[in-house]
Amino acid sequence: MADYIYTMELRLTPNQQKGVTLVQDVARNAGMNVYLTGGAVRDIISGFPIRDLDFTVQGNPLKLQKEFERSGAIIGGTEDDLKVLYLTLPGGVRAEISPARTEKYEKTGKPPVIAPATIIEDLRRRDFTVNAMALSLNPGSRGLLLDPFNGAADVEAKLVRVLHNYAFVEDPSRLIRASRFAARFHWVLEERTQARYESAKENNYIEYITNRAIGNEIEQLAYEDDPLNVVRVLEKEGWLKVLSPHWTTAKIDTNGLSELMRTRQQMNELGYAPDPAAAVLHFLTAKLSDKEVSDIRKLIPRKDLVEAWRDISDHAKELAKRLSGKEAATPSRTWKLLSNARQDMVLFLAVTARQQAVEQKIKNFFTKWREVQQKIPLPEMTELLITPQLPEYPKIAEEVFMLLLDGKLRSRTERLNFLKPLAPPPPPPPPPPRRGRAAKAAVQAQPQAPLAAAAKKGKGKDKGQAAPVAVPPAKAPEKTKTVVPAKAPEKPKAEKPKSSPTKLKTAQKKKAPAKKPSSKPKKKSKKH
Ligand code: CTP
Repeated sequence: MADYIYTMELRLTPNQQKGVTLVQDVARNAGMNVYLTGGAVRDIISGFPIRDLDFTVQGNPLKLQKEFERSGAIIGGTEDDLKVLYLTLPGGVRAEISPARTEKYEKTGKPPVIAPATIIEDLRRRDFTVNAMALSLNPGSRGLLLDPFNGAADVEAKLVRVLHNYAFVEDPSRLIRASRFAARFHWVLEERTQARYESAKENNYIEYITNRAIGNEIEQLAYEDDPLNVVRVLEKEGWLKVLSPHWTTAKIDTNGLSELMRTRQQMNELGYAPDPAAAVLHFLTAKLSDKEVSDIRKLIPRKDLVEAWRDISDHAKELAKRLSGKEAATPSRTWKLLSNARQDMVLFLAVTARQQAVEQKIKNFFTKWREVQQKIPLPEMTELLITPQLPEYPKIAEEVFMLLLDGKLRSRTERLNFLKPLAPPPPPPPPPPRRGRAAKAAVQAQPQAPLAAAAKKGKGKDKGQAAPVAVPPAKAPEKTKTVVPAKAPEKPKAEKPKSSPTKLKTAQKKKAPAKKPSSKPKKKSKKH
């Protein structure tokens, strides 16, 4: 019995792990069996970034809404007839909770008849083998992979394979999904699936696609890491116009979109994880008419995403205004403002800002100002015992950083004048050595600690002296990470980033060179 818990924990970000625990606990408390399903399991096994968490419960997820809200989740939308719940879990983790169900398609183009079911029956109603796996989160079987169609083997073989011959007839949105997954992962359609795909295309089954499926497919585009690539494939296959009749790649702001994805990558490299979904939709539909955009918005199931997309330009304008005003009059104030602003907004503004001053401030925030961290006066701080062990250290380091940003603390005198009042009191002097017979007896009675033993052996003048006085390390503290005052949110577990030149590029964090392991093997003492 394969145990995938270790793999799951290894692959999920800390926030996603917390999200799994949260959903698992809420479902368990309600007495519902719960499984991680669909794309999340596929991505855990394939090694691709895990974009969102799909859960399936045996029961009605809509009944869990209050409990989820109490646990800090935000309800992003619901599909009342299907009883599907869209959540944003703490830390911005997207999740979808569906009830385990069967879907019986009785007539082409008509929605299926739905009935509650077991998890295995639920897996049978799904689109592709790689999406028809479940990972149990239940006590007794936690970590067990349910894979009735051998999806793991298709992940390995990089194949998109339908579960049965009627897959595309029953749900023509699978045609779009097959193209989307093949484009995203650079996988291919399995031979028979390809044949069914071609025949479904010829027979124009796509005309039976439901509005719900269109909305879901448009929403999924917003989460793609390379939306342009996927949209181009959809256009080539003839699916883009199915999603919106006049949608073509010419209607996309391709420059804006490319710049957005590059900037997002750089923010990721700096430890930020802005959610680009609303901005992606903004650029993807940049040249569609207002009516077309409004029609698309009505179809998207996650209402919080629609809201974010609708408001993105206004919010960005507001942030630009604040960045041009008093609130950002100095570099340190600007730093604070940008550190506390919503990172998705900073991302969007970094790409769309028209005022040069605003653009420059964002650029400095990501590049030049970060270099100022290298100037934190560690030697003086260490000299004054202001080290990371001090509880006040992060606060002091932040203050120093802010002053440095504003061009202060240039001279050593200035730095010492600022730091001295913040220094902790010096450690107490060592107790005087004991003398006489009583002291000797006391020393002999002590357990023989290595230092005391060494002293006793006469290796120092002060025989029997207690402990050596702590000397502040001459070296600068190894980790300067704590001095980064702008808290970078959780770093997503993305694929290895491709570096590309852009506006923001210049200041990558200078990492201290890793200590090379000595390549020379230790000399063995020769035996004579
Ligand atoms: N699903 C399906 N048929 C559809 C839509 C969804 O069988 N037409 C099932 C699949 O098992 C899918 C899961 O529901 O994995 C979740 O759907 P969705 O979130 O749309 O896709 P993901 O597979 O999670 O893919 P992505 O990585 O794009 O989120």
